[in-house]
Amino acid sequence: MMARSDPLRLETLRHLFKNSPLKDLDAVTSADYIASLNHGDLPRWLDALDKLPPVIPSSVDLKTQVRIGDSSDASREELEALQELLQLFIPWRKGPFTLFDIQIDSEWQSGLKWNRLLPHIQPLAERKVLDVGCGNGYHGIRAVGEDANLVIGLEPYLIYVMQFQAVKRYLANYPCYLLPIRLEQFPGPFNYFDTVFSMGVIYHQKSPIEHLMQLKKTLRKGGELVLETLVVEGEKGYSLTPKDRYARMPNVWFVPSIETLVCWLERCGFVDIKVLDTAVTEHREQRKTRWMPFESLEDSLDPINQSLTIEGLPAPNRAILIASIPD
Ligand SMILES: C[S@@+](CC[C@H](N)C(=O)[O-])C[C@H]1O[C@@H](n2cnc3c(N)ncnc32)[C@H](O)[C@@H]1O
Repeated sequence: MMARSDPLRLETLRHLFKNSPLKDLDAVTSADYIASLNHGDLPRWLDALDKLPPVIPSSVDLKTQVRIGDSSDASREELEALQELLQLFIPWRKGPFTLFDIQIDSEWQSGLKWNRLLPHIQPLAERKVLDVGCGNGYHGIRAVGEDANLVIGLEPYLIYVMQFQAVKRYLANYPCYLLPIRLEQFPGPFNYFDTVFSMGVIYHQKSPIEHLMQLKKTLRKGGELVLETLVVEGEKGYSLTPKDRYARMPNVWFVPSIETLVCWLERCGFVDIKVLDTAVTEHREQRKTRWMPFESLEDSLDPINQSLTIEGLPAPNRAILIASIPD
């Protein structure tokens, strides 16, 4: 069974990189590697992927949203089966996705972030894109909608990898792929990508500088980094390290001021650093839905003072920066 021996269906990518530095893909994508991740739900998820109805979408829009096919492409039984299978991958945090008119209303309206950055970055057409910490691949799929040549996402959290696989099932010929690994495990190619995204990732790193150095290694000369992160008010040099959780998240290590972030980028050798946007996260962008019924922003903020998290820290404020590698 193809889906079992090649659980992530990466044949095309293997072929593409046969003689390149990415030829060692097997080490991080084979059935053995996926099994070694030893996730209890994996057999159930792989089974669900196998059962996805083989429907062919009559239309695909990845440019203004992620909308694949419509309900007239499938029978009622197929639509019911699809809806049930997609629910096995709850929680859907990033999205939304519309598959054959089934609306996966995710926790995050990820298109809002995309709209904030897209007008300001190098056009993605014909570019090779790496999306580090891509979640279920929503932004990478939108990059394909902008005619990127190749998009590779890196994401260690398996349920998001599975969500991507479910959507990708209906985007078989589109050049987006996801590797179930952390950036630290990326086997290359290095000095290769035209655009590298790191969005919502750096504050989860114990060493943000190491993260920036690794991102830099993946970019070709003249390539562009798109860095999105939580930030706090503060002077150059200041960053917040929560004593414990931040907005209920247990794994937040450094939330820098914008000036500190610029300084980190400069120290790592990036140039042409620009702040594109800052935005306080609002309930319309992050909220509980039927497809993500667990705690969300409303549970993470102080109920009386919404400018604070429930831990009494500054409420989430996010910035998007771009930076380049010198030519
Ligand atoms: C907050 S989510 C952001 C998802 C998406 N980039 C977005 O902007 O909506 C951060 C993701 O980064 C992943 N992640 C954390 N550290 C990582 C690392 N070192 N390499 C690759 N992914 C990482 C997490 O598993 C998580 O899914």
